[in-house]
Amino acid sequence: MDCYLVNGGAKLSGTIQVNGSKNAALPILAVSLMTTGRCAFHNVPAIRDLQTQVKILNTLGIESQWHGHTVTTKVVDSYNSIAPYELVKTMRAGVCVLGPLLGMRGQATVSLPGGCVIGERPIDLHLKGLAALGAEITLDQGNIHVKAPRGGLRGTTIYLGGKFGSSVLATDNVMCAAVFAKGTTVIECAACEPEVVDLADCLNAMGAQIEGAGSPRITIRGVRRLKGVEWNVIPDRIETATFLIAGAITRSPITVAGGRPDHQLAVLDTLRQMGIEVRRSGTRMTIVPADRPKATEVATLPYPAFPTDVQSPMLALMAIANGTSIITERIYPDRFMAAAEMKRLGANIAVSNGQAVIQGVERLSGAPVMASDLRAGAALVLAALAAQGQTRVSRIYHVERGYERFEERLRKLGAQIARVPEEAVVAAEAG
Ligand code: EPU
Repeated sequence: MDCYLVNGGAKLSGTIQVNGSKNAALPILAVSLMTTGRCAFHNVPAIRDLQTQVKILNTLGIESQWHGHTVTTKVVDSYNSIAPYELVKTMRAGVCVLGPLLGMRGQATVSLPGGCVIGERPIDLHLKGLAALGAEITLDQGNIHVKAPRGGLRGTTIYLGGKFGSSVLATDNVMCAAVFAKGTTVIECAACEPEVVDLADCLNAMGAQIEGAGSPRITIRGVRRLKGVEWNVIPDRIETATFLIAGAITRSPITVAGGRPDHQLAVLDTLRQMGIEVRRSGTRMTIVPADRPKATEVATLPYPAFPTDVQSPMLALMAIANGTSIITERIYPDRFMAAAEMKRLGANIAVSNGQAVIQGVERLSGAPVMASDLRAGAALVLAALAAQGQTRVSRIYHVERGYERFEERLRKLGAQIARVPEEAVVAAEAG
């Protein structure tokens, strides 16, 4: 297995281009199941999670081709509506085929996604929403079966809120199923994330009638069929934030290009509170290098507030800030796996009850660390960029689930980072 070797302290410069959004592309690819027409999706990042999603779609009778960042799809067989455990267990977002399959084929079987390192991730809201449309739901041998009633799904008003607020993929699933329901469906307490809007816009381009995406109330008027589509996925706001923080943590004037600053307001605001200005010009955001960042306080919440997916990268920045910062994690209270590893780099972080208190230190120092999940892994790389000496980041397959050619793109900005076989490094260290 490969690891990253990072020599911290290098200043970065230049421009980095943001890729398409992983979390928008995942449910958008699943709309291929909802039409007999050909679809072409552009700006799809070539990362592990999207490859897994395409494999899931292939098992569901979709023929697909990748050309760079474009994926073309066409249904060639609609016989199988079972998404296999072997694939869904590796990527929880596989559950987003549930709504499209139920709507289009009248039934679906998806293995129940298991636990996940960032905490408990139930799917009760997905099932509650689909049941409200009339679907019969059974659980059997680790699989969820959903089946439309005789006469088909029926539109209704659904309150889709849970104890943590709205759910992104539950909103996606219910919206997709409702596209083919008879009558009108209203989703109240819908997720407002830009990825939900992109999915709704894509479905509308296929002939769906969805209004209100981006607000807590989405109205879907049922239609009989959808046509094929050619769609450009929105830029990845989490990748954008990760690279902005790479600039902030190394105090380097890098430009992140091709992003959507309007999707980034909470992150930009938090950076500003830390004394880091970001100059905006169209789709370009440039870090204005500053002195040591100031400590601040932030809570993760559904969009448009500060995203949970940027919590770990922000933890890295706060680790070197001047003063005591606090992050309260309100989406996944247990998502602080990065903290323990950052302590190995010299960070001073105390985590309890979904809150991290970070006493900023002047300097981190390199050490071997391990990525536990995608965002924690990216955060460790960011911390390593600012640390003195060498950091080895293991289990980088987590990072590569969500960031395409992460180390190569950082290297182009001047970061001293290499992707090397871990055994060789360990052997060299052993002498
Ligand atoms: N929740 C429930 N019941 C449900 C569904 C969710 O209680 O049926 C809870 C969750 O446990 C969580 C909260 O609701 O506390 C929000 O979870 P949500 O359902 O919105 O998460 P998701 O849709 O499964 C997406 C992203 C995640 C991101 C979250 C929150 C995709 C493919 N994944 O997951 O992305 O953290 O929204 O914004 O869109 C990542 O990219 O690293 C990642 C984990």
